Amino acid sequence: EKAGYKHFMAKEIFEQPVVLADAIRHYLSDDGQTIARPGDEIDFAGIDRIAMVACGTAYIACLTAKYWFERLAGLPVDVDVASEFRYREPPIPDRTLALFVSQSGETADTLAALRFCKGRAAQTVAVVNVAESSIARESDLALPILAGVEIGVASTKAFTCQLTVLAILALKAAHARGRIDDAALAGHLEGLNGLPGLVNVALALETPIKALAQRLAEAEDALFLGRGAMFPLALEGALKLKEISYIHAEGYASGELKHGPIALVDKRMPVIVMAPHDRLFDKTVSNMQEVLARGGKVLLITDAAGAEEAGEEVWQRLVLPDAPELVEPILYAIPAQLLAYHTAVAKGTDVDQPRNLAKSVTVE
Ligand code: F6R
Repeated sequence: EKAGYKHFMAKEIFEQPVVLADAIRHYLSDDGQTIARPGDEIDFAGIDRIAMVACGTAYIACLTAKYWFERLAGLPVDVDVASEFRYREPPIPDRTLALFVSQSGETADTLAALRFCKGRAAQTVAVVNVAESSIARESDLALPILAGVEIGVASTKAFTCQLTVLAILALKAAHARGRIDDAALAGHLEGLNGLPGLVNVALALETPIKALAQRLAEAEDALFLGRGAMFPLALEGALKLKEISYIHAEGYASGELKHGPIALVDKRMPVIVMAPHDRLFDKTVSNMQEVLARGGKVLLITDAAGAEEAGEEVWQRLVLPDAPELVEPILYAIPAQLLAYHTAVAKGTDVDQPRNLAKSVTVE
């Protein structure tokens, strides 16, 4: 069943080019130029804001999508972890779309949050992997991510498929609200169509990542940094690493470094900086310099232009292919997953069944 892989997690990481292509094919028209689904089931022109609710990795997918919805569609987005949202019982203004993301579709807190929103939000939409789940059934509209069964407790392919569906939704919203025209939409979709190929290139970094992971396995703590839509990816990198390797890891917005976590930086501290060469790159490099000045070991995950500009002092670098800005967060999930996976393998932990964790959290 593991198709020759040592763990389900590895199989699921390497399945991503195929399942991402499946998800893209499902949501786009045959020529890939327009969005086929959803059609007018969601009235994006008729809403003023989005409330997104989820747990764990699905919550991190929501944090990433916030950047897309705000920037592309001009829609303000609030993101909450479901366990907080459900008991806070926040006011839900008119014309709010409530969006729930869950791989299993059975997470107790997310389901409770959905029930709270029914009758209060203009519409409830669920982005799920398990199409026959409670969350899919009880929402007004369920959108499948088509990742296929995910067995590894640490979510990998479900995360990138969630992001892909959310990116398509953000583009749909931007188009429906008149923020991008047909040509701009087609341009973004072309970028999305290239994603499975880029993911293949990223997966080919497995050998250097495996070597790096031997070193990371010696660490007691690790810090992940990112800016903009890479900030949630830093959170995801840290979550994956701590879940399966039990190394204490934290993800921070790069700009928050000097507001606390820099106190932790010393010669033994690996700092993983996720930074494509975008309009925020220079800012992140200056944060990186602060880490280097304190002897921190920087692993820079970037693209060719970023690697060139970053200088020679970084401890290690991983170079990803250039990608359109929209798909970068999805692409950068790949090295984060591989790094966590190989670090856990190097430590000899139970990758598919990490201690204390369950795949589906149906009790709060
Ligand atoms: C992390 C992980 C968990 C889940 C979380 C939500 O790798 O898998 O954090 O993302 O328990 O589960 P779902 O998506 O089923 O609601």
